[in-house]
Amino acid sequence: MITLQNPLDMHIHLREGEILKSVLAFSAKYFSACLAMPNLKIPLTDTNKVLNYKKEIQSLANSLNCDDFTPIMSMYINESLTKDELIKAKKAGIKILKLYPKGATTGSENGVEEILDQKTLEIFEIAENFDFILSIHGETNGFSLDREFEFGEIFKQIAINFPKLKIIMEHLSDRRSIDLLHKYNNLFATITLHHITMSLDDVLGKGLNPHHFCKPILKTPKDRNALLELALSGDEKVSFGSDSAPHLQSNKLKQNGAAGIFSAPILLPKLCEIFEKYNKLDNLQKFISDNAMKIYDLKNIPNKKITLIKETSRIQDSIKIDNDCIIPFLANEELSWKIKEN
Ligand code: NCD
Ligand code: ZN
Repeated sequence: MITLQNPLDMHIHLREGEILKSVLAFSAKYFSACLAMPNLKIPLTDTNKVLNYKKEIQSLANSLNCDDFTPIMSMYINESLTKDELIKAKKAGIKILKLYPKGATTGSENGVEEILDQKTLEIFEIAENFDFILSIHGETNGFSLDREFEFGEIFKQIAINFPKLKIIMEHLSDRRSIDLLHKYNNLFATITLHHITMSLDDVLGKGLNPHHFCKPILKTPKDRNALLELALSGDEKVSFGSDSAPHLQSNKLKQNGAAGIFSAPILLPKLCEIFEKYNKLDNLQKFISDNAMKIYDLKNIPNKKITLIKETSRIQDSIKIDNDCIIPFLANEELSWKIKEN
């Protein structure tokens, strides 16, 4: 048995409308807070959009009896973001700015074309002065397996030029990013469940598996192992961010298969399984909560304790949505840990 204090998921796609209704409970019941990503169909590029989305999440969480769940909000950066809008956001309690390179992933069509452009540098400067946290999807549009590595140079430039700005390297996937993370004091990172458990072979090694297709793409076993080791170590620069990203099965299977893995239903049991396997259960609390509390300076999160027990259960095969469905990560497989319901 293990009891986790205030589990946090610092990178999640909760979506909106029907999908939000179907997926929110997996997070709101078992996590104290989640950092909701802003790449909705209409991206959350201003304060009002972010606050409306927050209301949608909160009222749904309340209807699920999860009043103790806190959605942490982020705002989507595009070139037309102004200083006034940033000040307004800050006053409204929005602390995180999300940067997507244009075209890098799902919902990044309105992202930034030239990251080190004058306009973006001005936004970074305001972000630094107003104590925002800059969360970055760090991929170039180069060769798939080198995209994160190539983006390293941009992380480096931002880290050096804005030394007081906290920068989050989201969903690390390449072991070469780890050196960079440790080189600059103002770089931090999130790590997903899928990048510490799978490699590219799980996407295309035995027939194409669209449910394991995500951005950044899964890489080599060496990358997976290095990231696993980093997560298990409880390194204080690293928080857990699932990057759970539900897509309707129909969108996963059509010609331009949608990128994203829906891991929300299994996160805590699976993490217990992994940390137990490597004899590191003592470090799970840091990875799942303590590190993020410090990095994101989280306060006023209602106290929540989640207990997990060693008991097997089977992961559901799908979640129905109208005539369609969402297939969860590891559908139909067995878990050896289970959340103890109150
Ligand atoms: C995410 C999504 O579907 O919104 N997809 C993904 O593959 N991770 C976007 C993202 O975080 O890259
Ligand atoms: Zn994401």
